Amino acid sequence: MNRKLPAWLEDAVFYEIYPQSFQDSNGDGIGDIPGMTARLPYIKSLGCNAIWLNPLFDSPFKDAGYDVRDYKKVAPRYGTNEDLYAFFAKAHALGMHVFLDLVPGHTSEEHPWFKESGKAKKNAYSDRYIWSDFWLYGIPNHPYIGGECERNGVYMLNFFKCQPALNYGFARIDYPWQQRPEDPGPMATREAIKDICRFWLSHGCDGFRVDMADSLVKEDADKKKTGEVWQDILGSLRKEYPEAAFVSEWSNPVQSLKGASFDMDFYLDHPGNGYNTLVRDYETEGGDHSYFTKDAGGDITRFLADYLPKYERTRSDGYISFLTGNHDTPRIRNQHSVREVALSLALLFTLPGVPFLYYGDELGMPYQKDLPTKEGGYTRTGSRTPMQWSAGKNAGFSEADPEKLYLPVDADDLTCNVESEDGDPVSLLNTVRALLALRHSEKDLQAGGDLQIVYAAAEDPLFVYRRGGIVLAVNPSGAERVLPGETKGTILYAIGQQRSLEKGLVLGPQSFVALRAE
Ligand code: NOJ
Repeated sequence: MNRKLPAWLEDAVFYEIYPQSFQDSNGDGIGDIPGMTARLPYIKSLGCNAIWLNPLFDSPFKDAGYDVRDYKKVAPRYGTNEDLYAFFAKAHALGMHVFLDLVPGHTSEEHPWFKESGKAKKNAYSDRYIWSDFWLYGIPNHPYIGGECERNGVYMLNFFKCQPALNYGFARIDYPWQQRPEDPGPMATREAIKDICRFWLSHGCDGFRVDMADSLVKEDADKKKTGEVWQDILGSLRKEYPEAAFVSEWSNPVQSLKGASFDMDFYLDHPGNGYNTLVRDYETEGGDHSYFTKDAGGDITRFLADYLPKYERTRSDGYISFLTGNHDTPRIRNQHSVREVALSLALLFTLPGVPFLYYGDELGMPYQKDLPTKEGGYTRTGSRTPMQWSAGKNAGFSEADPEKLYLPVDADDLTCNVESEDGDPVSLLNTVRALLALRHSEKDLQAGGDLQIVYAAAEDPLFVYRRGGIVLAVNPSGAERVLPGETKGTILYAIGQQRSLEKGLVLGPQSFVALRAE
């Protein structure tokens, strides 16, 4: 390692919670912090020992909370700051770590910084956002807004119209109104972000998932300047909180882990990238060719060609984080059978790096198609529906009248819930528990352990890989496959059927096996 990473990450497995939809404790139809606190033992029972909470700060909720109005205040609909501190304490007592969601690239247009920044009279926040003094336009390729404030000029947006971009400066200066990253305005923005992090770290938070981490410095094609800003921010925080950790929404591990010194970087679903070819290939000509889609001609080498060079280049800097899904992508169950999901998770949880499980994916919770958009969710809304705890009222999520729920529960498929899967030894829920138990019991399967490819071929779905002393094999196809002869050992865990023949171990259709190598 070039830099010592927090040791607890080595065996960490994260669980992402969308707070709106996890557990309502007061019957108002929306999830809250006391509800999440009561469910901590459940999360622990999965084998997840870390949690990422989507933003739960004061907000007008035009982008589900990614439009922050007060970074240091819990939104009243979720509870109070004290409730969150109690959540941290209970999680810690259970041996779990908690990440909050840091949104450094933009605020809500209702944030007091922005209100000050939009005033005509110069003040301490005038340079907190990116203002062009051309009253009709900024620079090409960036959306700008006018007509909202008394100040002369237009301001840059980072995402939706309600999210003005914070000012970290420009890597390339073409106009006199642009500032450099080292100018006083951008430097003050950095300090403000450090201050927010310190606030939560001092109250027991263990680190942050960082939203749009690559978006800070503008016109920064190679992201060098953005990397330098993060080196500064993270470097300062690590001096005070050496165990704090940070995962970036960047999906470029070379830039994030090497350039910006993040501990982990998400491998996000981008059309045609390695992760996309595994479980989220919606767009290939002729349909879904995800590797895990049974008999769809999936090809593991598409994944390896993208992933392996990234892994090799960054393995001494930090971890690539695989996700089962998140609040921005259709749920994994949308295009996969339960067995396909189980096999996918078997791979995602046994590759190097720190994995993230999206709430409900352990049950195979469905993606609800065609829901009207909620809080800027659009097609993402269908992945944000209430956690299904039981087949009872509102799936055990809330006591509220069903029409008052933040989002509806899936009326068609309530068989998928914690209560019913808990008692079924081969349910997806118990498969997840078994896979994570295996990962925790075998050091070789954890974040930093070695990875070697034993067998991978474009025309053959069988994939065999090795992590230290453990050989793992996955056969997503509907036909039996014989493991290559040299891969013998004692079976530690398996999904599907296997049988031993003289020529070697036979993997049944749609199966997975982990062996302690002989
Ligand atoms: C990425 C977040 O995951 C997404 O939900 C949000 O809408 C945008 N960033 C803007 O903050």
